Amino acid sequence: MTVFFQTGKFSIIRKCLNAPICNSLFIRNYSDPVKKFKSFSDVIAQRKAEARRSLVVQVNSETSFNELYGYCSKYASIKDIHHYRNSEKEHFMLIEFETEENVKEVLKACSSHQKDVDVMPIESPFLWFRAAVNKKEKLSCPSTKTLATKDGIEPVDNDLLYEELLNCETVTQQIQHLYERTKLNDLGVRLRYMVARQFEVIFKSLYANVAVQPFGSSVNGCGRMGCDLDLVLSNVLTEDMSDTRRRLVYQEKREEYAGGGRGGARQLELLGALLELRVPGAGAVRRVLAARVPILKCTHHLAALHCDLAASNTSGVYMSELLWQFGALDPRVRPLIFVVRHWASAVGLTNPHPGRWITNFPLTLMVLFFLQQKRKTGFILPSLKVLVDRAGKEDIRIAEENINCTFLRDLNKLPHEEYGQSGEDLHTLLLQFFEFYAQFDFQEHAISINRGVPIRKPNALPLYIVNPLEQAMNVSRNVSYEECERLRAEVRNAAWLLEEGLEGKKGDDWGVLRLIERKDSRGLKQLLRVGNSHRLVSVKDLFNEDDEDVPITKSKKTDAEVDKSVKEMRRVTVEKKEQKIKFKNSQIANEVYRIRRNKIV
Ligand code: CTP
Ligand code: MG
Repeated sequence: MTVFFQTGKFSIIRKCLNAPICNSLFIRNYSDPVKKFKSFSDVIAQRKAEARRSLVVQVNSETSFNELYGYCSKYASIKDIHHYRNSEKEHFMLIEFETEENVKEVLKACSSHQKDVDVMPIESPFLWFRAAVNKKEKLSCPSTKTLATKDGIEPVDNDLLYEELLNCETVTQQIQHLYERTKLNDLGVRLRYMVARQFEVIFKSLYANVAVQPFGSSVNGCGRMGCDLDLVLSNVLTEDMSDTRRRLVYQEKREEYAGGGRGGARQLELLGALLELRVPGAGAVRRVLAARVPILKCTHHLAALHCDLAASNTSGVYMSELLWQFGALDPRVRPLIFVVRHWASAVGLTNPHPGRWITNFPLTLMVLFFLQQKRKTGFILPSLKVLVDRAGKEDIRIAEENINCTFLRDLNKLPHEEYGQSGEDLHTLLLQFFEFYAQFDFQEHAISINRGVPIRKPNALPLYIVNPLEQAMNVSRNVSYEECERLRAEVRNAAWLLEEGLEGKKGDDWGVLRLIERKDSRGLKQLLRVGNSHRLVSVKDLFNEDDEDVPITKSKKTDAEVDKSVKEMRRVTVEKKEQKIKFKNSQIANEVYRIRRNKIV
């Protein structure tokens, strides 16, 4: 496992800053310049603290809110309660308390299954709310309190999203809207930190000072609702633990304690068994131990997500930090990454399963590289070299195998002329992205965000995208010649589709819709456009006569009207979903369901 060594100076400062008294004394001097960028480590620290103050409780339904609130307030002060359902439609409440002490008080008041002798209790932040024995006890919450979120991790309905995108005025609005509606939301992030916290709490029974940290798309700003949770287990060696003046030292199992390689893989075997036997919610554990970075894959049904757990991959965390920083530098970066990821998935360039095709991470590097190209008015993103050159002592980070992950962490120190210097809108950038790669010489050149310019390929692999933190590595070495050719063909096609879709009248797949709709759903899609305009086919041909006719007029709308119509569509779509639709024959019904399922990725 990786060893983070917290140097004396930093850990003393950190301790002071964490102390409550110091926090209250830390008053901002108004002559300080207002900081534009928050640091990644501050965001992570805030999320971790939030998770330490929170618990997840399984309940009967969302109406359990009052009773749960009343019950927990007997022990602690509640900040907020968020409701969600998992894939089995079981109900859960994520409760954030005011303090960590509050959580400890509530946990002290927990019980376990006394009836089932084969259940061995374990303490973790995932609980369930038993039906009351004492029915007379009246539990309620103040009328001012309501659920902060209801059904908080339900992904956006595809039909609704489609209608909303159809109603946008510009392609730029579509891209922005797609980003806003599909990105990982606050509750999605909270749940991911709760799972990391749960694993950490349980693993601490085996390892002193371990930390389980989320990385990848859950934290790098590129995650969409439902994305997998990448986790890394690290050994945090504190100043106290490494104090050589302390003469009594724990005996240790040295050989197995090593980080990667066989040692790391053996630790993962043990953790795999632990996940299967002792971690509530974790299941379907798969061991992928022969990989360069061995991992455990599992599902977490209480938090409704899939996890990949690695031991020793701190560079992955620093890589997430780097991507997060690039995303923070300009508001166009993340929406552009999102639309490119959606497009790549829709045309089948990416695939959730591993194989000879490109994945989201190298695709993200391609977007960053494109944004690093010099324009007439300057750069949208700097090269990584600029961040490395401006790094100070406080930015030095060395991951396992001596991987140097040093780069500027405080983006407020970056001169304005290094980023955000061009005014192109998202539509223009997306088109330019496709055109850029349509002309890119993949045969001769590699993509490297380190310098932001194409470099000569060091070998003949079809696609070469330099790993920014380990420059001798190609993050797309798995990509076959055929897949690289497909990538080249698809970027050309996308540029053509995007341009063609804007000529003349807006069709029913105008703008980004024709890029993000799955190819296999295109054939019958017109038959499914319900309640939109004269462009749409009447659903009477598909459904029984008792279905309502669709409105047929549509004129150019103002923003307020679009907003109103989007709300109305949401309501209608929800109502329609609740009605049971009868199809004239089962063949059409099957086709309709297949298309609905696959329509937007
Ligand atoms: N990573 C890396 N080198 C690679 C592949 C991945 O450093 N060759 C790191 C990156 O930080 C990446 C993370 O591991 O973000 C997780 O990889 P992966 O799950 O493949 O990508 P995500 O960015 O999480 O995207 P997705 O939403 O598809 O999971
Ligand atoms: Mg991931």
